[in-house]
Amino acid sequence: MKHFTDIKQLSRKDILELFRLTDYLRDMKPKKRAKQLRHKTIMQLFFENSTRTRVSFELAAKKLGATLINVDIARSSTHKGESLRDTLTTLAAMSADAFVIRHQDSGTAEQARQWLGDTVSIINAGDGNHQHPSQALLDLYTIHRHKGDFSTLKVAICGDIKHSRVASSLIDGLNIMGCQNIHLFGPRHLMPESTPAIMVNRFSSAARAADVLVMLRIQKERMNDTDIPNAEQYLTHYGLTPQRLQLAKPDAIVMHPGPMNRNVEIASEVADGPQSVIQEQVHNGVLTRQAILHHLLA
Ligand code: NCD
Repeated sequence: MKHFTDIKQLSRKDILELFRLTDYLRDMKPKKRAKQLRHKTIMQLFFENSTRTRVSFELAAKKLGATLINVDIARSSTHKGESLRDTLTTLAAMSADAFVIRHQDSGTAEQARQWLGDTVSIINAGDGNHQHPSQALLDLYTIHRHKGDFSTLKVAICGDIKHSRVASSLIDGLNIMGCQNIHLFGPRHLMPESTPAIMVNRFSSAARAADVLVMLRIQKERMNDTDIPNAEQYLTHYGLTPQRLQLAKPDAIVMHPGPMNRNVEIASEVADGPQSVIQEQVHNGVLTRQAILHHLLA
């Protein structure tokens, strides 16, 4: 595999192989790990804000011994009118081995792959509302560590699903892993037009007997002002409260890709409660991104 732009590139077997590689690199002696990508150069181009994804790719690259450059988009020549294609071609000419790209437009990673061919590995760190495959992998890894087999699980994904590349890539990833029982709930106008998952119109239908609950932020940056729900009332109608969590299985896990808006889509007690694996997702993000970089570049 040369590029990682869409979780649908992977089979169930590929994903299990990446889980094994994640564990193998996690357990490797740091000194040996730091030799894995010693002469590789990775450039990050983030046209949208990011904390977790950008920093965890950076940490993953550095732990494997690669050179990592964060291209400062705000000060780059795209602000002098240079096209994205020319910026990418210029950086590729500096012998980059991989680009980690986040962009507001769906399809940018795939477009970059077509422009550059196989000269540089393209890793999609989120394109519009389309895909976020490294997030899907870390979410799947986290679920796998808690629940093992996917085929018997009920997963509820709640919130602004329409604008969420996290939701669409996770739904694809769960399908690949054999999970058929995926329920979606959120404000009607924030539900997707079509999906391979099951759309329900009550929180209780989604949450009842769920093994995994995934809560999502309202992605205001992708909406018209009139579509933005009222934050104060949101928790009451659509958020995960301690009462609603009781509908799920007693050992259900609560996930959130971050950034989280406390007491909007998730009550603070739930976010910090014993069933929350939100910080573990962040931790696993570094580990699974090591595996992605190693798989593409080693
Ligand atoms: C998400 C994203 O950027 O798609 N964040 C992330 O990468 N962890 C979700 C979001 O912005 O709400």
